Amino acid sequence: MDQAEKLRDIVKQHNAINDRQARIITVTSGKGGVGKSSISINLAIQFASQGKKVIIFDADFGLANIEVMLGAIPKFNLADMIFNGKEFEDIIVKGPMDIGFISGGSGINRLANMSKDQVTFLVYKLKELEKLADVIIVDTGAGISDSVLEFVMTSNEVILVTTPEPTSITDSYALLKSLNAKSGFNKEETTIKIVANRVDSFDEGKNLYDKLSLVVDKFLNIHLKFLGIIPNDANMQKAVMQQKPITIAYTNSVGTKAFESIMQTLDGEAEAEEIKKKGLAGAFVKMFKNARRKNG
Ligand SMILES: Nc1ncnc2c1ncn2[C@@H]1O[C@H](COP(=O)(O)OP(=O)(O)OP(=O)(O)O)[C@@H](O)[C@H]1O
Ligand SMILES: [Mg+2]
Repeated sequence: MDQAEKLRDIVKQHNAINDRQARIITVTSGKGGVGKSSISINLAIQFASQGKKVIIFDADFGLANIEVMLGAIPKFNLADMIFNGKEFEDIIVKGPMDIGFISGGSGINRLANMSKDQVTFLVYKLKELEKLADVIIVDTGAGISDSVLEFVMTSNEVILVTTPEPTSITDSYALLKSLNAKSGFNKEETTIKIVANRVDSFDEGKNLYDKLSLVVDKFLNIHLKFLGIIPNDANMQKAVMQQKPITIAYTNSVGTKAFESIMQTLDGEAEAEEIKKKGLAGAFVKMFKNARRKNG
C-alpha cells in the first residue's frame, strides 16, 4: 500500500464509523467576484434560522472575504490547528446566529509540507468537525486551481455561481471542462446546481441557465440543475459595507426574498434526493497527494 492508499483507507474507515455527517455544500465559480462569499453567508443564515448548526469553511486563502463580511476576524486558522496544536475551539469564530467560521489560512498551501501523522490528524479532525455541524458550506477561491477542483469533486452538492457577464459564463464552462477532465470526478455523485446571480429578472437568469446547461450537456455530458436566481440588488453591497449579511440587514429586500426561495429549493431537494454524504477529509487527502507529487 502506498501512502495515498493508506490515507484513503483511513478516510474510508472514518466514513464507515461516523454515520452522522454534515451536509456539505461547496460554493464555487469560474470567475472571481461573482458572489460566492455573499451566497455562502446568506445561505448559512437560512440554514441557521432553521435551527441547524452551520459552519462556513473559507477555502479561499487569498483575500479573506467572509471574515470581512461578517466582521469576525479569526485569530487562528486551519494551519494553526495542523501545525501549531490549536483546537477547533481556537479556530472557529462565531458570527451572527451562531454560525461558525473557519479560515483555511495558509493550511491549504502548506499541505505539501505535512507529515503523514499530520495528515492523519487533519483527517481525524475534519471528521470530528463533520459531527459537530449539520451543514458545512465551503466557500472556494475563484478560478480553476487543483484545490478548488478537489473540493468540488469530493462534494455531493456544488453551487456554481454565474452572472450574465460573458466572461462569467465562459469561465463557468471552463471550470466544468477542467472538472470533467479529472479522473476522480464522478458525475453520478456530484450534483452541480447553478445560481444565476446579479440578473435583472427571473427570465434572464433562467435563460442564462438554459444556455449554459445546453452546451454543458452536449459537450461535457454533465447535467446541471437550476437552483435559482438572485437579482442585482444594491442592498447586497450596502450589506457588505455594514459587515452584515443582506438577509439580516434588509429582510424585505428582493435579494433576501431570492435567498429564501433558493433555500426552499435546497430543502426540497434534500428530501427528494437522499443526499449521499462525502466528507471534507477526502478533498484534503487528495490535495495532499497532488502537492506531494508536484514537489517530487
Ligand atoms: N446580487 C447582487 N447584487 C448586487 N451586488 C452583488 C450581488 N452579488 C454580489 N454582489 C457584490 O459583488 C461583490 C463581490 O461579491 P462576493 O465577494 O460575494 O464575490 P466572490 O465570488 O466571493 O468574490 P471573490 O472571488 O473575490 O471571492 C460584492 O461587493 C457584493 O456585494
Ligand atoms: Mg469570496
